[in-house]
Amino acid sequence: MKITFVQVNGVEKTIEDARPGETLMILGRTHGVEGILGDCGGGCSCATCHVYVDPEWQTAVGPPDEIESATLDTVSNVLRANSRLGCQIVLRPELDGLRVTVAPSG
Ligand code: FES
Repeated sequence: MKITFVQVNGVEKTIEDARPGETLMILGRTHGVEGILGDCGGGCSCATCHVYVDPEWQTAVGPPDEIESATLDTVSNVLRANSRLGCQIVLRPELDGLRVTVAPSG
């Protein structure tokens, strides 16, 4: 699967060997994507894996659940309608080609 990150420095990084079942946060961290920290290890509590999902991918990715929304509220100054936490997006074949932008820290 191919996943593209626009890193916080504005440089795009495309990863071609993403695997279904892993999270966007782990993928980004493993590949050194700038701005994806994942400080809480995927526990949905730190928001250091915050990304903006490209509008054309929003339907496929889906909205955050209540717990994720509460964590996103902690970075409300940089929150957008297409905000998601990378640790809560589990990659699946339908997301092949996904493009996200890493959010600045809140
Ligand atoms: S890694 Fe902490 S909220 Fe996603």
